[in-house]
Amino acid sequence: MTLRSSRIPLVLGNWKMHTALEDACTLADATASIAAAHPEIEVGILPPALWLVSIHKRLGGASAVMLGAQDVAPQPSGAFTGDLSAEMLAPYTRFMLAGHSERRHLHGERDELVRDKLDAAWRVDRVPVLAVGETGEQRASGRATEVVARQLEVALSGRSAAEVETLVIAYEPVWAIGTGIAATPQDAAEMAAVIRAWLRALGPVAPERVRILYGGSVTAANAADIFASPEIDGALVGGASLKAEEFAGIVAAAGGRAT
Ligand code: 13P
Repeated sequence: MTLRSSRIPLVLGNWKMHTALEDACTLADATASIAAAHPEIEVGILPPALWLVSIHKRLGGASAVMLGAQDVAPQPSGAFTGDLSAEMLAPYTRFMLAGHSERRHLHGERDELVRDKLDAAWRVDRVPVLAVGETGEQRASGRATEVVARQLEVALSGRSAAEVETLVIAYEPVWAIGTGIAATPQDAAEMAAVIRAWLRALGPVAPERVRILYGGSVTAANAADIFASPEIDGALVGGASLKAEEFAGIVAAAGGRAT
């Protein structure tokens, strides 16, 4: 099996704190149609948590689009005002995102907390999506790979192969998020290769089995170039996932990648 064919491309739309309920339902319907037209890949959306129950009910169990949570608390329950546990999210979701740079930078979330969030997702048998990435300043000073390696090390060292192989890693350089300046396909592919080399050094894990997505200003126009590398297995899309036509273009590009 080649590196390329052993992993099904995955496109996730992170809606962040956007949409009113009515818009969310309309967008979910449109995304479900897009996903149904591309059974060769996997498509998911991460709506605001408040809309998950409604969207889950609306789409039904047979929908081609999977749902995910933008964040998850480490603890199963307790006095954690404003948080949602993996147990609460599990009935409605397949994916749980941990370590998004907006959580790291706006909420001061540290690598150790991100590690605990991965545990929470595994505890309820859901797929954690680990987001990693360097700031512009860190890249400019030549420390991009060191920063990403540190994020991986704290989150993943000591994990079993079974755990790591059920993980999705999203490489999202902070400077590319919401800026309209995506990483070059070469930079994205190079970092994905660095991540796989790091995973290989972890021991029993087969890095060929771990999906690595790119995120940061992905659009319908640049998706095909980004997906051209066999190292990149799809995208974690922000702004463009809120526009059905744009998202359809990205999904179609990933579909091209699957064949
Ligand atoms: P943009 O696609 O809007 O740059 O956001 C990327 C992102 O943060 C996805 O999680």
